[in-house]
Amino acid sequence: MMDLVLPDKAHDESRQGEALMLETKADKNGRKLYIESYGCAMNFSDSEIVASILLDKGFETTNDFTIADAIFINTCSIRENAEVRVRNRLKEFKVAKQRNPGMVVGVLGCMAERLKSKFLEEEKLVDIVVGPDAYRDLPNLIEQADGGQRSVNVLLSREETYADINPVRLNTNGINAFVSIMRGCDNMCSFCVVPFTRGRERSRDAISIVKECTDLFNEGYREVTLLGQNVDSYKWKAAASPQPSPEERELPVEGASSEDLGEASVVNFANLLEMVAQINPDLRVRFSTSHPKDITDEVLYTMKKYDNICKYIHLPVQSGNTRVLDIMNRTYTREWYMNRIDAIREILPGCAVSTDVITGFCTETEEEHAETLSMMDYVKYDFAYMFMYSERPGTLAAKRYADDIPEDVKARRLNEVIAKQREHAHLRLLEKIGKVQKVLIEGYSKKSANDYCGRSDENSMVIFPVDERFKPGQYVNVLAERCTTATLMGKIVD
Ligand code: SAH
Ligand code: SF4
Ligand code: F3S
Repeated sequence: MMDLVLPDKAHDESRQGEALMLETKADKNGRKLYIESYGCAMNFSDSEIVASILLDKGFETTNDFTIADAIFINTCSIRENAEVRVRNRLKEFKVAKQRNPGMVVGVLGCMAERLKSKFLEEEKLVDIVVGPDAYRDLPNLIEQADGGQRSVNVLLSREETYADINPVRLNTNGINAFVSIMRGCDNMCSFCVVPFTRGRERSRDAISIVKECTDLFNEGYREVTLLGQNVDSYKWKAAASPQPSPEERELPVEGASSEDLGEASVVNFANLLEMVAQINPDLRVRFSTSHPKDITDEVLYTMKKYDNICKYIHLPVQSGNTRVLDIMNRTYTREWYMNRIDAIREILPGCAVSTDVITGFCTETEEEHAETLSMMDYVKYDFAYMFMYSERPGTLAAKRYADDIPEDVKARRLNEVIAKQREHAHLRLLEKIGKVQKVLIEGYSKKSANDYCGRSDENSMVIFPVDERFKPGQYVNVLAERCTTATLMGKIVD
């Protein structure tokens, strides 16, 4: 019987790059596992798969690495500083390993995939290096490390989706969960390392996704975020299955068994969203990331049709200039992106939109940077993640273009983008004042036990006084009365 003991830290996209620690107890083999995650939500979701694989082998987990028998660090390579953080963290693990030489230190994730056996050469304390598609091999690799053999498995797969593994929910509040719907990326944006670290794009079996979300709902979860690097290219072909398994037959969702889907049926992202939305009107559905080149009106109309699909789209623009978008290999133009925004505004009035922006990409001129700022004025994003360009070895941009924008210019442009975004985020919150927001209570506010916090449909953080009639995991209507630059404040109304 597994009994989870978890620190208080809710899932939140803004935690990118933060460490996530966990503590669980399982049928024991006497060995303690410590796992820490960096990078995007997919990495945090993968750590839940890793934990599931190792808890099955009798490990128990700890949130204190100094007493661990195995330390795993699930790494990110997206920007240089993500890798620097991991290297620094390894130095801290070194001290623990010196005290306990039997300790196994493993590097997982994107940096493991990028550096492969180089990691073993460069970091003497590392015993095993495991890429994102090789986690099933972990028990075997640990055994080899126990025998004194350092090893690497960075094989990428065209099929692996871990569809059959039931992830152990880590650091959970029991309300929000991430569900991976696909892996890898085929887009080859010229700045991006992900296609090299995560391999080819593949979609996970839709039936296993619906089952996982249904199980989560039955366990009390009220919000799922469907994850993929480009969810709009989700495509799963139902295998011919004249005799569905008893499990499939029991699926509560209309059209969700492979029998119903038929021999040649293909499930696209809009279909999948609909299948998950139909599980229960009280299960909120979010998703990330949408790609501007692929997001369809069909997805927007599906969002409109279901109240429980949150009206929030993360649609990274990267740059507002067509020439820069072209050398970034994003395969859309400024006008195309604006057209997608217009479609969102028309089909889903009030839908929140967020973005990612890169400043100082190779050869970007001041005029081109100004077009990113004017794009921000056009959209007035609710949220944004903003970065200076960081050259990544092996990417198309690193091979083709000089990283020629001086760091101080990149930083000044980034500051302009951040300043503008702050204004827009505030503006978007001010628009909500005086209006009632449907909020899923996620827990108590970090600042005061007298307040609840939760998010609105459009993903705004909302703080309001505790009302004992309502508990975390329930929906309430909150009248927004005032705001800071990033948070709405209000009170529960009927
Ligand atoms: N799949 C998502 C992005 C995943 S990476 C998409 O296509 O939108 C998250 C963000 O990191 C990217 O959107 C981009 O803004 C940023 N990023 C990726 N590579 C980068 C690099 N080399 N330098 C700076 N930022 C980068
Ligand atoms: Fe990277 Fe582009 Fe794929 Fe996003 S779509 S993960 S930015 S290659
Ligand atoms: Fe980082 Fe890999 Fe995600 S590079 S952003 S952890 S896919």
